[in-house]
Amino acid sequence: ERFQVFVTRNDMPQGGIDLLKKECDVKMSSHPSTMPREELLKAIAGVSGIFCSLTDRIDREVLDAAGPDLKVIGTISVGHDHIDLAECKKRGVRIGYTPDVLTDATAELTMALLLSTSRRLPEAQHEARSGGWKSWAPTWMTGPGLAGSTVGIAGFGRIGQAVARRVKAFNTKQILYFNRSERPEAQETGAIKVTFDELLTQSDFIICCAALVPETKEMFNKAAFEKMKKTAVLVNTSRGGTVDQDALIEALQNNTIRAAGLDVTTPEPLPLDNPLLKLPNCVVLPHIGSAAIETRNTMSELTANNILKALKGEPMPAEL
Ligand code: GLV
Ligand code: GLV
Repeated sequence: ERFQVFVTRNDMPQGGIDLLKKECDVKMSSHPSTMPREELLKAIAGVSGIFCSLTDRIDREVLDAAGPDLKVIGTISVGHDHIDLAECKKRGVRIGYTPDVLTDATAELTMALLLSTSRRLPEAQHEARSGGWKSWAPTWMTGPGLAGSTVGIAGFGRIGQAVARRVKAFNTKQILYFNRSERPEAQETGAIKVTFDELLTQSDFIICCAALVPETKEMFNKAAFEKMKKTAVLVNTSRGGTVDQDALIEALQNNTIRAAGLDVTTPEPLPLDNPLLKLPNCVVLPHIGSAAIETRNTMSELTANNILKALKGEPMPAEL
């Protein structure tokens, strides 16, 4: 008998869906978007596997709705703050995720956001398109350069380290990192482990690549912004929850820090009346860190392979 797997949206990259269909009965949401909760709860009754994304909250209610045949949750993401890991473990439900395959794409996007924010690309393009570009001007549209600067990285996992390797190529003076555990791999980029306070006070650019866990929740708060240089630029490509967003809005409005570049916000999507979307010193992107075409297909295939292995009771390529 073939296992039943439910896919929580109908626009997952095809690679993984094709793999699943070879071996399982695949049922799929009819929505190219996050499923309404009630519909999701009904649709997963009796399935053995769920292929989900970071926009699906996988909690006790979902696990109950799926029932005792559920063996595996496969999320097409490296982040897993949307999944109640403890509850899954308790029930013997295995969890697959997609580390490594999105590291380069996310590090690339982080560099793009860092440069867009510091060198004010969205503002500058707006000027070019709207007639604000009158002539070349020596102090117009200037922003801080990376060369010679100190860059601090909060969260020095796979993505943080990949960002460090790229940052190093921009002739920065030094790279600092804050991480709960020591990272011997830091030697490759000469990154120096510091306390969070040192990261805040010494960095010209601060990049958050830290997974959202209780210890990192709103680590960038009012007190943190006050410790940062007034000229500092903050970039966040991890999860919106690592930043106290109201405190960030205030810090940007009062020039407590210079600018922020966010690929992640609270909530997502960010409501159109949110001040972050109006501030000239803030660049907001719609959570596209891993959105390189090939990367997304590889993530889909890895998610499917995680699910297929778990259903057979075998080791998964990437299990939490
Ligand atoms: C994206 O944010 C991911 O966790 O993969
Ligand atoms: C987790 O966010 C990682 O660094 O891959």
